[in-house]
Amino acid sequence: MDYKFRILRYDPLKDEYPYFQDYLYETQEQKSILEALMEIRNEQDCTLAFRYSCREAICGSCAMVINGKFNLACRVELDSLESSPIVIEPLVNLEIQKDLAVDMEPFFEAMRQIEPYLHPEGGLLEKGYRIEEREMDKIFQYINCILCGCCYSACPVISRDERYLGPAALAKLYRFVKDPRDKRPFSNWSRVNTEAGAWGCDTVFKCNEVCPKSVRPADGIEALRRKLVVEKIKRIFKFKR
Ligand code: SF4
Ligand code: SF4
Ligand code: FES
Repeated sequence: MDYKFRILRYDPLKDEYPYFQDYLYETQEQKSILEALMEIRNEQDCTLAFRYSCREAICGSCAMVINGKFNLACRVELDSLESSPIVIEPLVNLEIQKDLAVDMEPFFEAMRQIEPYLHPEGGLLEKGYRIEEREMDKIFQYINCILCGCCYSACPVISRDERYLGPAALAKLYRFVKDPRDKRPFSNWSRVNTEAGAWGCDTVFKCNEVCPKSVRPADGIEALRRKLVVEKIKRIFKFKR
């Protein structure tokens, strides 16, 4: 079977503008987009740049835009795509480093700001921590995030406000807010009670729509907003008493 690929190319060191380059790819086997890209790079054009690692939808590094849809290249089968050519573009809202590889630093910087690890009371326990199943259910979907950046890239707020923490970081914060083992005071999160935090979201749910791991970041952001309102009301009543 023959496939035509149209891939966005850009090397900021030598190209004035991004451009599309076409490749013909032939295979008789079931292949993923990532496998096709690897063969194109190995057999036709060793200058083609893209990222990958696990090849099985775990590491999140092969996120890109495939025929206009955000996805992981390793989980999209060639046969599942009906239109030709297959158009491949890098994630948007992030600077292109080369071809399909983008600079993920703003995404990870937002993630670092929410300190995405447990802050237990009294330090780490040697024997680990038990957590009830019903508590686990509340945070389970957020644990599935593989930090691919699709939601960040698809978010319309990120495209106009670089201060916005973005859906993945805010959803991750909610995961820790709901985790009974995490004991940091919610009052620490003044940064989230802002337009760059939970109140910046336009609630257009694009992040829920594009997540390849079925995480629903916008649900976490809405829950964070409810939590911020409840905390505010609690403080008002405490002050009045
Ligand atoms: S729901 Fe909020 S965080 Fe998600 S894509 Fe829309 S604006 Fe961005
Ligand atoms: S929430 Fe989904 S789309 Fe966003 S970074 Fe995590 S896995 Fe990717
Ligand atoms: S290569 Fe790891 S998610 Fe695709």
